[in-house]
Amino acid sequence: MIAPRAGFGTNGVAARGHPAARFPSFANYLVAGRSLASWGRATREEIDVGDAFEGEVVVLSRRAESDGVVSLELGLPSGDPVPGWEPGAHIDLVLPDGLTRQYSLCGAVDNGKTWRVAVLREQEGRGGSQWIHDNARVGTTLLARGPRNHFPLLDAPRYLFVAGGIGITPLLPMISQVAASGAEWELHYGGRGRDSMAFLDELECHGDRVTVRPEDRHGMLDLATILARPAGDALVYCCGPAGLIDAVEERCRAWPAGSLHVERFTNVVTTSQDDAEFEVELRGSGVTVTVPPHLTILEAVENAGVPVLSSCTEGTCGTCETTVLEGEVDHRDVVLTDDERDANETMMICVSRARCGRLVLDL
Ligand code: FES
Repeated sequence: MIAPRAGFGTNGVAARGHPAARFPSFANYLVAGRSLASWGRATREEIDVGDAFEGEVVVLSRRAESDGVVSLELGLPSGDPVPGWEPGAHIDLVLPDGLTRQYSLCGAVDNGKTWRVAVLREQEGRGGSQWIHDNARVGTTLLARGPRNHFPLLDAPRYLFVAGGIGITPLLPMISQVAASGAEWELHYGGRGRDSMAFLDELECHGDRVTVRPEDRHGMLDLATILARPAGDALVYCCGPAGLIDAVEERCRAWPAGSLHVERFTNVVTTSQDDAEFEVELRGSGVTVTVPPHLTILEAVENAGVPVLSSCTEGTCGTCETTVLEGEVDHRDVVLTDDERDANETMMICVSRARCGRLVLDL
């Protein structure tokens, strides 16, 4: 049975009405004065960030981890330690094009001083990864915020990790923590070819707990065998391409509820031909907006001049998470778990819509 589903990196729960528990470090965000299409388009003066971290980080080192993957070690320009984090967390990097990208933290949790991210050059992407590959050098300064965690590592006596390609990144610190704890674990790591699979050298020390499966030599991960026997005491953590996650979800339907934890990098279904117009009352602002089929709630709210933070605008990061006061939501994000969707308490307004004619939001 499938339980928690985590979207890639939830951004700050920053705007009014957002459930702070999802991202406590951003709980004190207050947006002052104008709508923010993304953090990258705002200035510090326009946002009271409370005690949350947002600001410049500098590239301290850069390393080619495999064909197409570079890692960056990031530190504060002051040399002070970066904010702490837990396995599964990610940070946002705001690139010069103004768009925000989310990257899993994949270094050592107890490093304390720096963050490490790894970036796959995506030829078909929106350009963020290519910018980093082409421009991020030692000494380059980037804007960052976070960390934030929608993919936390829960306690269990046994873990089964399944990674596909760059999906290894959030699992690396999990594996380090689990290995140090003495819990039982195994990793099944698939990729196109061995040359494209990052961090194989770091995983070598774990011996036969790690199964590396380059597709060009051995075919795809044998999920039928890996997930053959549901185990009541084991948690499954999976990150990678959508096809892998879908397949793992399918296999885990026979597992106990709550066994599977996934993190998705993309969200494919956000619009429908059947999308209809509905109204949204923003109770805190005293404004009611109409959301036509071709607009998202986020766009309608921004058009009305009501300040709200967003980042990915794809339902993957969680920045725009907003408390629902009334009405039934048509959830289309990949951040909320099935239980959270059923609870109907919050929604990602960048993609999710109304199942009814009217929603009331705490905005
Ligand atoms: S802005 Fe990322 S989930 Fe809405």
